Amino acid sequence: MILILIGYMASGKSTLGRILSKKLNYDFLDLDDYIENEEKTTVSDIFKSKGEIYFRKAETKYLMHILENKTNLIVSLGGGTPCYNNNMSLILEAKHAKSIYLKASIPTLVTRLNKEKSKRPLIAHIETDELLTEFIGKHLFERNQFYSQANITVSTDNKTETEIIEDLVLKLF
Ligand code: S3P
Repeated sequence: MILILIGYMASGKSTLGRILSKKLNYDFLDLDDYIENEEKTTVSDIFKSKGEIYFRKAETKYLMHILENKTNLIVSLGGGTPCYNNNMSLILEAKHAKSIYLKASIPTLVTRLNKEKSKRPLIAHIETDELLTEFIGKHLFERNQFYSQANITVSTDNKTETEIIEDLVLKLF
């Protein structure tokens, strides 16, 4: 089985994926880390030096590689992965895979992302809370059509990591 965590930037995909992998005794893989490893540079650098289109192609290539070759795995995707190149269909059609959308509200995402903008090339340049709120609102609206196709949705607002994991395991099994 492959469990695929999807959701907006800072929705907790990597943190919760690591916790879940220990609980279920599965391997854990973060797609951004995998890309950085394969491409031998950071995601921010790929955006800067090769551009977003190159990054989106690489994302699809490595996603396919993972879905075809791995099992007993939790994989956390990048926030944009399900929204490009028919990737959401690949995810839904993958054998023995279940997708989980970690849903977070706009204010929650703004608070979390304010602290860690610099690592994220899509929002690093946005200066005020107001502009970040506006950007995330529009972006999430566009992306929701993809995220909402996930097999399972777990809301993460006002919950501890333990509560989210409990909720997720209940919905999964
Ligand atoms: C992106 C999210 C990032 C990373 C890249 C683009 C996006 O991953 O893949 O900066 O388009 O939402 P996280 O969701 O792990 O921040």
